Amino acid sequence: MQHKTDYLVIGSGIAGLSFALKVAETKKVFLITKANEEESNTKYAQGGIAAVWHDKDSFEKHVQDTLVAGAGLCDEKIVRKVVTEGTQRVKELIELGTRFDKAQNGDYDLAKEGGHSEHRILHHKDITGYEIERALIEQVRKHPNINILDHHFAIDIITQHHLGELVTSKTKGITCYGAYVLNTKSQKIETVLAKVTVMATGGAGHVYATTTNPTIATGDGIAMVYRAKGHVKDMEFVQFHPTSLYNPNEHPSFLITEAIRGFGAVLKTLDGKEFMQKYDSRGSLAPRDIVARAIDNEMKIRGDDFVYLDCRHLDRKGFIEHFPNIYNKCMSLGIDPFMRMIPVVPAMHYLCGGIIVDENGKSTIDNLFAIGECACTGLHGANRLASNSLLEACVFAHSAAEHASSMIDSIQFKENIPNWNAEGTEQAEEMILITQSQKEVQQIMSNYVGIVRSNLRLKRAFDRLEILYKENEALYDKTIITPKLCELRNIICVGYLIIKHAMQRKESVGLHYMQQYKKTEVVE
Ligand code: FAD
Ligand code: SIN
Repeated sequence: MQHKTDYLVIGSGIAGLSFALKVAETKKVFLITKANEEESNTKYAQGGIAAVWHDKDSFEKHVQDTLVAGAGLCDEKIVRKVVTEGTQRVKELIELGTRFDKAQNGDYDLAKEGGHSEHRILHHKDITGYEIERALIEQVRKHPNINILDHHFAIDIITQHHLGELVTSKTKGITCYGAYVLNTKSQKIETVLAKVTVMATGGAGHVYATTTNPTIATGDGIAMVYRAKGHVKDMEFVQFHPTSLYNPNEHPSFLITEAIRGFGAVLKTLDGKEFMQKYDSRGSLAPRDIVARAIDNEMKIRGDDFVYLDCRHLDRKGFIEHFPNIYNKCMSLGIDPFMRMIPVVPAMHYLCGGIIVDENGKSTIDNLFAIGECACTGLHGANRLASNSLLEACVFAHSAAEHASSMIDSIQFKENIPNWNAEGTEQAEEMILITQSQKEVQQIMSNYVGIVRSNLRLKRAFDRLEILYKENEALYDKTIITPKLCELRNIICVGYLIIKHAMQRKESVGLHYMQQYKKTEVVE
């Protein structure tokens, strides 16, 4: 089956939904998403969205906080763009129906998170992402020009390669004509031809064994673009959130928002001693990379599986009002945060690198944009400042929509695109081949390419992954396509890119911490 649409948007998180709403006034949009409509990293965002909101704060302060967190590797022009345009984009979210919490005086209740010099995080209790996703989906559903197709899995983007033309990464003018998409209800692979395609596929938490990301986060967009010879950057900068709930049988891990530390909670070792001051004068509210490494170090020195987050001294009423979701979760596990400390451990949370885009969200492939977590805009540098990613997604959805709208009328559909060829493939004999390889990739990445890395560990990870890559490519060629098979292929690809970029960077900076290039902050 072939479809034709002006825009093909892949992903229904904040980035994809925002873009779709902006271009749909005059054009037809196909918005596909691999699970149900609202499933996305966006839905689980807790802390909120950072924006300069009151007079005490300033764009300059937010810019400086972002640059400091990014450890010298941010693109300052992009930082200024996101921060200065961000407030207007957040106002638009509010106009679209997002309800951020207000204080008693009617002003927005602004929270503070690690690395921020001011209170500037707009939030909806501790379920901000759920609220944003709700508001955007509601608008998208109502829009007559947006056709939202859930349970549609994008396998690969279509380029000249599928017409039998030879393209290499050095070839100028690789062009995207749409994507091959598996309708997981009918099990048919459909061809979606589009004038403009937008990758909004989110993160890649499931490249690792422990992550706060929902299971959709398998780096599909990055892998698709890399396979199509698009350019990808900064993949070594993998952000581990310092405080996911330590509950070994729960996958993905439940997040304990950083905003709780902003509210006064303190990290302690199992013997009840504070330790963050040893590492950074900002204590438990130091930037995320420093806190995650400090926890990792304390756990290694002491041989412990977790540390504690102490909330027992906090105002009970205020805590429950601000963090009802976390309070209920803890209580459901028998942890009353006012009686007992919460066990926490770092978990893979956010990928700073991704598909290289310019200031309009345009990738290195013609007619292909990338927005949201799958893109690398230059905002985050070596480490993302908390609550900057929802903001980045809105700002780049807007710029990409403006730019794409200005060029779409000059783009023609490509003719003679072949349908997907499944000849010679058969049902997977044993699912275990896929599920076991997936676990192996995740173990390799967690054990050797985690918070602290070394040349030896990276080399070992690279060699192990190469074996899995070869095995899986052989399996892929002869097996009927399923989402699980594609996701395995994608996490292997993203894992490979993380290792490759980590090997290329000969320094410790931001989230990339190499034993060989130690800084003084962590004593090992
Ligand atoms: P997502 O919201 O992840 O959406 C990706 C979409 O693409 C999904 O709909 C998915 O199903 C779809 N998709 C993926 N692959 C395919 C495919 N092959 N075919 C079809 N569809 C596909 N950031 C903040 O700024 N503030 C916070 O407070 C915050 N808290 C967070 C808490 C948690 C627990 C997590 C996991 C993340 C948090 N983040 C936070 C990060 C932030 O939520 C994400 O970076 C952001 O939501 C990403 O939005 P997105 O639109 O790029 O991707
Ligand atoms: C959190 O609430 O701690 C997560 C914020 C973020 O990832 O930006």
